[in-house]
Amino acid sequence: MSVLEVEKKAGKVYIETYGCQMNEYDSGIVSSLMQGAQFETVSDPELSDVIFLNTCAIRENAHAKIYARLQGLGYLKKRNPDLVIGVLGCMAQNLGDDLFHQELPLDLVVGPDNYRTLPELIQTIRSDKQPVSLTRLSKIETYDEIEPRVVNGIQAFVTIMRGCNNFCTFCVVPYTRGRERSRDPHSIVRETRDLVAQGVKQLTLLGQNVNSYKSEGVDFAGLVRLLLEETDIERIRFTSPHPKDFPMHLLELMAENPRFCPNIHLPLQSGNTDVLENMKRTYSKEEFLEVVEQIKTIVPDVGLTTDIIVGFPGETEEQFEDTLDMVRKVGFDMAFMFKYSEREGTIAQKRYPDDVPEEVKGERLTKLVDLQTSISAEQNKARIGKTFPILVEGASKKSSKEACGRTPCGRMTVFKLPENISVDSLIGKTVSVKINFATSATLKGEVIE
Ligand code: SAH
Ligand code: SF4
Ligand code: F3S
Repeated sequence: MSVLEVEKKAGKVYIETYGCQMNEYDSGIVSSLMQGAQFETVSDPELSDVIFLNTCAIRENAHAKIYARLQGLGYLKKRNPDLVIGVLGCMAQNLGDDLFHQELPLDLVVGPDNYRTLPELIQTIRSDKQPVSLTRLSKIETYDEIEPRVVNGIQAFVTIMRGCNNFCTFCVVPYTRGRERSRDPHSIVRETRDLVAQGVKQLTLLGQNVNSYKSEGVDFAGLVRLLLEETDIERIRFTSPHPKDFPMHLLELMAENPRFCPNIHLPLQSGNTDVLENMKRTYSKEEFLEVVEQIKTIVPDVGLTTDIIVGFPGETEEQFEDTLDMVRKVGFDMAFMFKYSEREGTIAQKRYPDDVPEEVKGERLTKLVDLQTSISAEQNKARIGKTFPILVEGASKKSSKEACGRTPCGRMTVFKLPENISVDSLIGKTVSVKINFATSATLKGEVIE
């Protein structure tokens, strides 16, 4: 056996990802770091020597999922006592060593800023036969030179900044991801070029608060301009900006450059100014509406999406009505809607009792979802008769005779394949589709070019 083959026997690692796109990206980083240490990434936990769950902590049900999954993995640990099971990500950072005190099959707990140490920690566990944790937050770690290995299709994510300094009172992220720090713009350009070389057409730039991106004198709009000028990426999207100090020159860039998609995820959280203040969102109902007006004026074809929380502590029926009113006034294309979930260590947990009864939260969520679904349908119906350039992603879920892709404004669009043209030959290409039908979730149309 050659030396190389021996080295590659560090083991097989299986990674399961929960939570947001930043976690997806981080799993790629972990995979890359592990491969560098001669671990092979596999897609079947049964065949692995190391299992990582890259976890989320945003709401209680995110934690509940992981407890259930760990219990479910117990049989593998019984079968192979040398198997190393690790919890990574936000829940690891949030709960730390406490995770070891719950009789779970668990050897390793590692927070989002400590992934470089993973190979070493696994060696320690293997030699000492003791569980290990490392959850030290960093002010500088951005994994700049490490590129996630796996490219899956024509779409990719790139994290441009880590952490968050906003401390919205309900949110655990500043505690699980630490302080805000931006990546070097040149490393982002390099990574984007590599992705383009691997066939990626659409890039989504990720950060908890992308409008505070700042590195080497380059702000967020500057970074987007740099990527447009120095790479051949066809479409750029991003998530999420904070509605406070929304960069107006970003909108001008969006209006003038078709490669910068007119698609903005603008988290509202609540439509009531007092609730917004208790959430420490630092904008009022009116200020949010002003930002929306400016966006719609400068980028008329914009697709707007949002996040909303119902049942924040103290939220009255009237205050909830303000949220419904905002949803009607803005006309979001889509919204992610959540029941407030109290998080350990947050300002809201310390300051405000979680006093909206579970069933009231449930009723408000249902009301809000119903309203948003009808508005999404209206928004989509208004697109009937228009023609959009659709970047083809693949076959539609329902039929192999149909393909799907997104409009620049972010709406999923399904169309019938032209005669004698296969889906595969269209993936990654842009086709003109005229919309003739719409539901709340999807547009349908026919190819006109
Ligand atoms: N950085 C992003 C949000 C990331 S978390 C931003 O500022 O927009 C994604 C969404 O989860 C948040 O926008 C919020 O709507 C929701 N969320 C966060 N904490 C929550 C909690 N404690 N309970 C319910 N929903 C929460
Ligand atoms: Fe959480 Fe607010 Fe930061 Fe978003 S901006 S991650 S909601 S603290
Ligand atoms: Fe993302 Fe969940 Fe962490 S939303 S940043 S994985 S808490």
